[in-house]
Amino acid sequence: MIVLGIETSCDETAVSVCSGGKILSNVVASQIIHSDYGGVVPEVASREHERLLSGLTIKAISSANIEISEINGIAVTNGPGLAGALLTGVSFAKGLALGLNVNIVSINHLEAHIIANLLDRDDISFPFLCLLVSGGHTQLWLIKKMDDYTLLGETRDDAAGEAFDKGARILGLGYPGGPEIENCAKTGNKSLIEFPRALIKSKKIEFSFSGLKTSLLYFMDSFEESPNCKINDVAASYQSAIIDCLVAKMKLAIDITGVDTISIAGGVAKNKYLRESIDKNLLNNTIIFPELKYCTDNAAMISYLGEKKFNMNKQSRLDFSINPNFDSKLN
Ligand code: KG4
Ligand code: ZN
Repeated sequence: MIVLGIETSCDETAVSVCSGGKILSNVVASQIIHSDYGGVVPEVASREHERLLSGLTIKAISSANIEISEINGIAVTNGPGLAGALLTGVSFAKGLALGLNVNIVSINHLEAHIIANLLDRDDISFPFLCLLVSGGHTQLWLIKKMDDYTLLGETRDDAAGEAFDKGARILGLGYPGGPEIENCAKTGNKSLIEFPRALIKSKKIEFSFSGLKTSLLYFMDSFEESPNCKINDVAASYQSAIIDCLVAKMKLAIDITGVDTISIAGGVAKNKYLRESIDKNLLNNTIIFPELKYCTDNAAMISYLGEKKFNMNKQSRLDFSINPNFDSKLN
């Protein structure tokens, strides 16, 4: 079958076509307008989705080399995310499904991030663990099989991506903060400043990043750049505090569950230093790194998971609603 996927949960407007588990097109427009504000402005995001969706849909269909009439199903993110942004995508998707007279399926954005690990890969077998690290969530999941997921633990406060974004703002770097800090940290000394690694020794799978951000704020209050301590050193030390916590809990999840295959997902999964630390610290495990283009928000993961759902005979009634908040379940 041919499935068109639509993603508008935050500040990426994305449309993709998937058929037979293969991605035929994957179009993403990152709304750079938000960088003027240092973070995502929800109302602006909804308006941008509204402005971009038709054009991107036409582009996704033409670059997939199909006719619109060949589409057999629509998949759309209905949560978690920004309410107005989700509504824009869901309303557009419902209109399209009605107009084309095809089925529609609602997709959980977090499940899609996790299942993106299977995209273009045939060497992954269940069960596996997944560290999901995005702008809004930091969670460790046990993926027993399709549709059978257990949340092992999550952050008590800020998400890892949020720690990058807020940290970048404190450091005077741009938005989104993850790539900015990663870039700045490249030439820095990660051992120069000892930032706190909250809960790292606890035997529970849980994270906390809000104290780290406050600690950076206090540090920067009295910071003056010198040849001995440059902004790059601060960025590298801050990044390493976040990554150490993530890797420590990946190890703990492996110990607790006995599952030795582990993957990463979400925007922070793009981070090269995270990937290197995982490689270095989890030597005896099978590690799955998704392709970079499938880490940050995209619609390939939505169309791909949508097709899987249709194949499992799952579809949504046309009156399904958005679900902006995470409610501890993925489906
Ligand atoms: O998954 P995603 O695109 O959107 C959400 O669902 O939240 O993740 C966005 C987050 C942002 O916080 C961004 O700063 C972070 O992913 N991010 C990174 C990197 N690229 C994006 N964090 C660390 N290193 C990166 N290279
Ligand atoms: Zn996401």
